[in-house]
Amino acid sequence: MNWETIYRRKVTDAASALSCIESGNRLYVGGAGGPAVLIDGLCARAPELRDVELIHILTFIEAPYVDPKYEGSFRDNSLFIGHNVRKAVQEGRADFTPIFLSEIPGLFQRKILPIDVALVSLSPPDEHGFCSYGVEVGTTKPAADSARVIIAEVNRQMPRTLGDSFIHVSRLNAIVETDYPLPEAVQGKSAAEYLRIGQIIAEMIPDGATLQMGIGSLPDAVLANLGSHKELGIHTELFSDGVVQLFEDGVITCSRKTFHPGKMIAGFLFGSQRLYDFVDNNPIVELHPTEYVNDPFNIAQNDNMVAINAALQVDLTGQVCADSIGPVFYSGVGGQLDFIRGAAKSKGGLPIIALPSTAKGDTISRISPLLPEGSGVTTTRNDVHYIVTEWGVADLYGKSIRQRARALIEIAHPNFRDELTYAARKLGYL
Ligand code: COA
Repeated sequence: MNWETIYRRKVTDAASALSCIESGNRLYVGGAGGPAVLIDGLCARAPELRDVELIHILTFIEAPYVDPKYEGSFRDNSLFIGHNVRKAVQEGRADFTPIFLSEIPGLFQRKILPIDVALVSLSPPDEHGFCSYGVEVGTTKPAADSARVIIAEVNRQMPRTLGDSFIHVSRLNAIVETDYPLPEAVQGKSAAEYLRIGQIIAEMIPDGATLQMGIGSLPDAVLANLGSHKELGIHTELFSDGVVQLFEDGVITCSRKTFHPGKMIAGFLFGSQRLYDFVDNNPIVELHPTEYVNDPFNIAQNDNMVAINAALQVDLTGQVCADSIGPVFYSGVGGQLDFIRGAAKSKGGLPIIALPSTAKGDTISRISPLLPEGSGVTTTRNDVHYIVTEWGVADLYGKSIRQRARALIEIAHPNFRDELTYAARKLGYL
């Protein structure tokens, strides 16, 4: 049977496609570009279902399943907390499972979290019957590959990204055809301290470097300062529009990359329609599962690998918290430590953590004597290298606690330096 016939036979409406889902099933929900129609269809089935678990990383579509009215039918389990589920997690109505992005595929493959049904969003099939996972390959492809059942939206507007990003229509159990634009990212904060941090980091990055940029307001601030750089490359879990601009300006060429030369390597994408048009069928961009992209060994194959990740808080010994505010879970480790470790092993690599020196209108110093009670340590003080604030760079690697405390106080906000010095003395650090 040719693939077109197989495809046509599987096309159905959302209600029929989702009818195989049973109480107690564990579902994986794809995230960056959908499947919004399947999610709505699932919520419509809520009265018939009990204890269905929904697993996902960052999702950018609506997450109606965390609404208190669905309690008992659905239980959300975030492997990375996004804005759409944060309140539910913080109120104890949804779960959070800490895990490295590089190790999420293993949770599914090794049946630690076996997936019954994967709900995914795909591009239309090509002439050979292969659909692309589009803007999200990273954890979605491994989840679907290991699932008992795959229910796919085939969205006419999902770009066809290249790489290890394809699934044949014969592997799909049901197909719902859709046609809606992908969610678009809002611009990150452009406050003066972010711009200054971006400038400082840009000065650290050599021509020919390969970049990873984490998540939050920082990536845009860094990319905006790289216009005069040459022959930069990309190897990252996620990228957005700033990369497109630098490619079009001739700054990003990937020509000096030592791992996948000539290619931008990523796990997923989130930006505006401009980004989605850019990556469509574009051979310079390759998406792969996170067990590959985020494997610190693979990351380290890139010479001059520069990993730039944000943080919420750093203590005077160099412990970095990026996933909680005290005991309140905010996001997740994501790929932070994967890339910090990979960049640390790369020849000429720079593992960088950056954060504004204060929060909440300069009332809180993000550099603190101790992490607030309940904070998670995202990057350990053994892994940490460079910490950047708008006041400068602290190079902590190989430094004693005394040297670290001094270096961090120097890049704290001036309003807090005296009290940090006093606290450091009391703790015996100085
Ligand atoms: N105490 C209290 N509140 C704090 C705080 C602190 N120490 N630090 C930050 N906040 C508040 C901010 O004021 C802000 O609140 P607002 O939204 O009301 O303004 C909020 O927390 C978020 O902080 P911000 O610095 O604006 O976050 P961001 O959007 O730039 O993202 C991280 C930064 C660290 C949260 C983000 O990068 C992340 O989730 N990282 C996870 C790990 C990682 O880097 N993984 C790699 C990518 S997968």
